[in-house]
Amino acid sequence: RMKTQIFHITDPAAQREEIEAAAEIIRRGGLLGIPTETVYGLGANGLNTEAVTHIFEAKGRPQDNPLILHIPDVSWLTRYCRNIPPAAYRLAERFWPGPLTMILQRRSNVPNVTTGGLDTVGIRCPNHPVTLAIIEAAQVPVAAPSGNLSGRPSPTCARHMEEDMDGRIDGIVDGGPCGVGVESTIIDLTCPVPRLLRPGGLPLESLRKVLGEVAVDKAVVAPLSAGERPKAPGMKYRHYAPKAPVTVVTGDSRRTARYIRRNLGEHTGVIAFSEYVGDFPGCIVHDMGSVQDKGEQARRVFDALRTFDDTDVTAIFAQCPSEDGLGLAIANRLKKAAGFQVVDLGEGEE
Ligand code: TXA
Ligand code: MG
Repeated sequence: RMKTQIFHITDPAAQREEIEAAAEIIRRGGLLGIPTETVYGLGANGLNTEAVTHIFEAKGRPQDNPLILHIPDVSWLTRYCRNIPPAAYRLAERFWPGPLTMILQRRSNVPNVTTGGLDTVGIRCPNHPVTLAIIEAAQVPVAAPSGNLSGRPSPTCARHMEEDMDGRIDGIVDGGPCGVGVESTIIDLTCPVPRLLRPGGLPLESLRKVLGEVAVDKAVVAPLSAGERPKAPGMKYRHYAPKAPVTVVTGDSRRTARYIRRNLGEHTGVIAFSEYVGDFPGCIVHDMGSVQDKGEQARRVFDALRTFDDTDVTAIFAQCPSEDGLGLAIANRLKKAAGFQVVDLGEGEE
């Protein structure tokens, strides 16, 4: 067990010493929890094979699941990627820094451990002033998966990161709660038609406005059958799952609330929209935010999934938002937590 140092950084310009100390952990090959606008990441020098190996150990993550490289601005792209299509620059200009990861062909200076042996690399510029300052100060790209133990919900605040990583890593930088709350959107730009590999903080509609046609990888919307391999290796793993089984209920929110109320057992947990939190007497209810407020739902969904593990609930129901905008990412995270156990009640008034 190691001592995990906690840094509180709110103003990177005023707190140069803390930024330097955090960057020094990265430079010397250590592991550092870092805030981003999406979720907290578990960062290390992405060019250092040994440091990256330690990330996999600390998380208990399978070695074939590649990591995203975080860079401070688009000018670093050519250091780690080659054959970069013009679309990458259009997207970077429009959405970086921000919740978008691009899959591009990698250069040979990116180690195999970082890319899980693939000849591509996922790369993104996160929109968080503290982490941008740390990467700038370290002067190396930071490989960072989400900072949870493998299989647990992603951390959206420093406390979640501590729950999973205290004693396992060198430091955690507390830069406040994450503004987006779900991980970055992943777009593969190495195929003829750009392909969405993971829905996330940047809506698919926004990508289509810039790119035109975007294909959606099957793993985004459906469970994989045995032996099928998604293009994003991480999409095949059971994820985000609380200890109790989850059932996701999709469709009109009045219908889903009524369905859940009728099917409540003893010790049932409910993830509900704000409008319905009073409808489940005797249950542990987690408020996901208002039906229409997908930004709030995205910020709360992982905390909701985490919270039930400290309770005695034996089953969890979740109301699910419609799949437009951020709804696609929220629904994907809920369905993955449910192992794609979904009850669909349909839209529209009865
Ligand atoms: O918002 C985020 O993306 C956060 C923050 C910390 O940046 N990071 C994150 O990393 O969610 P992680 O490791 O939890 O998820 C990365 C996903 C995995 O499903 C992985 O398989 C996929 O990205 N991925 C990474 N590199 C890839 C590549 N070269 N080709 C295909 N998929 C890749
Ligand atoms: Mg993750």
